[in-house]
Amino acid sequence: MRAFFFICLATFAAIVLSGQKPARAEPARPLPAWEEALAKQGALKPAANFSGIGDRNARSLALYAEATKVITHPRCMNCHPVDNIPRQGAAMKVHSPPMTGALDGHGPAGQRCSTCHGVKNFEQTGGDNIQSIPGNPKWALAPASMAWQGKTPGEICRQIKDTSRNGGKDLEALYHHMAEDELVGWGWNPGKGRAPAPGDQKQFGELIRAWIDTGAACPA
Ligand code: HEC
Ligand code: HEC
Repeated sequence: MRAFFFICLATFAAIVLSGQKPARAEPARPLPAWEEALAKQGALKPAANFSGIGDRNARSLALYAEATKVITHPRCMNCHPVDNIPRQGAAMKVHSPPMTGALDGHGPAGQRCSTCHGVKNFEQTGGDNIQSIPGNPKWALAPASMAWQGKTPGEICRQIKDTSRNGGKDLEALYHHMAEDELVGWGWNPGKGRAPAPGDQKQFGELIRAWIDTGAACPA
């Protein structure tokens, strides 16, 4: 009788414990299709790959063309619009909910970027395809003078060198911004569900350094 009791107890305990087994970890969610396509774009070539180009101007142009892979990436472009409206995702759709940078790039009163965008990326598991909300202490929209969307690499090149439009940055300041600014750095740490910009910020900084050192040439 006592043995039977213990068998029952053991069976009961086994059932209870198996019920408490931690749920198997949710499989990683795939990137949304557009982000997946973006993630498959080629890697960023290191600056050293261009040292074989003898002509200084041609080398500068080639370095800039490589850096353009980052500059024209949606992770950067989404915040550099011409119409003061941020974009979202690899397909660069108009921001939802509707949003403008307002006067200072931080959004209208009562609906500032920081209402939703915290100091770091925030993971969320919603029913939709949004896997995280981007976050950074400096999160804001670039002003119209720094708009890149719809512009050619040559136009962007002349603009980012123009101190009357780039926030008064000489080439050295431009280099430091590209290579070290933490908001630029977000492009390689964009949160779940988003493809990062190619390469890393260090490699990108080295391309910009070499481009400047070869005369910062701009394509036509
Ligand atoms: C969250 C929005 C946001 C993202 C993402 C972003 N930027 Fe910006 N960017 C800004 C804002 C705001 C400014 C202006 C304030 C400043 O200079 O710090 C700016 C200014 C700049 C400037 C100054 C010069 C000019 O004419 O534009 C450069 C260069 C730049 N960003 C590069 C990048 C690159 C490269 C990336 C992607 C790797 C990027 N940004 C991603 C918001 C953003
Ligand atoms: C009411 C909430 C809310 C406010 C306010 C808001 N956002 Fe967003 N934003 C979101 C959410 C949620 C996402 C993620 C959705 C997605 O990526 O599809 C997002 C994504 C973005 C992205 C996409 C990044 C990328 O590369 O895919 C950018 C850029 C952005 N917001 C800029 C801004 C800026 C700039 C402001 C202020 C002017 C702002 N947002 C204000 C909710 C908000």
